[in-house]
Order: sequence, then structure tokens, then C-alpha cells
Amino acid sequence: MMLKITEAVNFIKSKYSPQPAVGIVLGSGLGSFVNEIKIEAEIAYGDIPHFPVSTVEGHSGKLIFGELGGKKIVAMAGRFHLYEGYSPEQTVFPIRVMKFLGIETLLISNAAGGVNPAFQVGDLMIITDHISQLAPNPLIGKNYKELGPRFPDMSEPYKKHLISKMKKIAADKNIKVREGVYVAVTGPTFETRAEYKMILTLGGDAVGMSTVQEVITAVHMGLPVFAMSVITDVGIREEENTITHEEVLQAAKDAEPNFKALFCELIAQL
Ligand code: HPA
Repeated sequence: MMLKITEAVNFIKSKYSPQPAVGIVLGSGLGSFVNEIKIEAEIAYGDIPHFPVSTVEGHSGKLIFGELGGKKIVAMAGRFHLYEGYSPEQTVFPIRVMKFLGIETLLISNAAGGVNPAFQVGDLMIITDHISQLAPNPLIGKNYKELGPRFPDMSEPYKKHLISKMKKIAADKNIKVREGVYVAVTGPTFETRAEYKMILTLGGDAVGMSTVQEVITAVHMGLPVFAMSVITDVGIREEENTITHEEVLQAAKDAEPNFKALFCELIAQL
């Protein structure tokens, strides 16, 4: 594992030498955030040693390096999901590589289903905590001491000071943000009605097929995380309700201007 990380990092450094301070993972439908970056280099996942290659529609699959808000950043345009068939360890490989490239903060975004009955399509939700137990843990298997401890503390996976900063930014910009617990599932099926109810009963506000593996991996390495969901559909409804991937992508695109405004300012204030 350490050798693979080193090989990927060395390859990337041979193409782009500045050290990024911030890493950002762009979720489904949020890829045009890269237009905010003064791009200095792009590296396709397929070119990086040991990187998996993203297959899902709406994810283009490259690392983008550049400047935003006076910071050097690296953005993952496209992430790896368990439902694509990658092992939990493969899905989080890029997070480990970004840490060894030198990032000091990891920002994560995703499209998620709303289960909190108050939520509406298009809402932005700051993730305050998560429930990961419905999906495999990426740290199962050998522990790499060079990365972190065998039994990582998870009492504050989403840093309170970053949450407070974002709440202040949202208030200043008059953008409504929700807060809540993100429940991870593997997908690729959207949930049944009974499953949405189960997730609500468990204490979830939103449900999605990504993010927690990345967060666990970051916390393992002591990397501070902030994460936000775009609520792209609402699972708990009385009337007939079906969900398509196209609706998810469209809802995320519609929410993108607010998402961009918030994340650009957060990066500037880090
Ligand atoms: N469930 C799971 N993942 C999702 C959903 C959902 O309703 N919406 C977007 N990603």
C-alpha cells in the first residue's frame, strides 16, 4: 500500500510540483465547480499508477490542480464508488494520495437522497455526522501504521470549526443550509420505501452511495474533513415517487450556483 501511494504521488509530482493545501471531491452533477479553478494541470486517473478508473455517468475522472481563493487546490473530478465494483480499499486510494501530496483539509461533496421529512429537493446539507454501518469499512484488513491507528477515534469526523465557518458563510450570503446525519449505503439501487423509513428511524437525514469511506480514510490519517450534500430527491413521500439518475444529476446542477459560492468562500477562508 505504501509503495503504491508513493508511486502515485511521485508520478503526480513529476507532472505538477506545487503542493496543494486543499483537496476537494466533486460529487455527481457538481463537476462544473472546476470552472472556478484557475487550472494549472490536469491528470487523467487512467494515467496515474494504481488509480482505479471512474465509470459512472456524470463523473469525468481526473485530478485537477490549480488555484482558487488564493490557495493551491487539487480537485477530484469523479470519484470511485463501491457499486462500480471497486474494493473499499480502491475507492479510497485517491484520498490517501491527496494526503501524501500534502493537503491539509479535505472538502467532500455528494448528491444524496433526503430522508428528513423537512428536506426539499435542492437543499444543501452540511454533514455533521454519519452512519457508516450499512456499507463496508475501508479500513477492514491490514492496518498501515504509517497511515494511522488500528482503531481510529470517530467522535468528530466532520470538524466543528469548519462547520461553524460554513454556517457563517451561508448566513452572510443568505443561502439556506441544512445540517444532518448522512447514512451510507452501497447502492446501486435507490432505496425502497421501507429502507428510507429505516434510515430515518436510524437517525439519518440523508442517504447516499459515497463519502463515508473517504471520510473514514481521511480521519484515519488525521486529515480534517468538511462535507456537504446536495439533496437531489426526497425518499419519504406519501404520493407515488420514483427516482432516476437523470433527476439526481439535474437537481445537483440546479443547486450548483449556491454550492459553488459556499465552497469558494470556504476555501478562501481556510
Ligand atoms: N439514495 C441513495 N443515494 C442517492 C440518492 C438516494 O435517494 N440520491 C442521490 N444519491
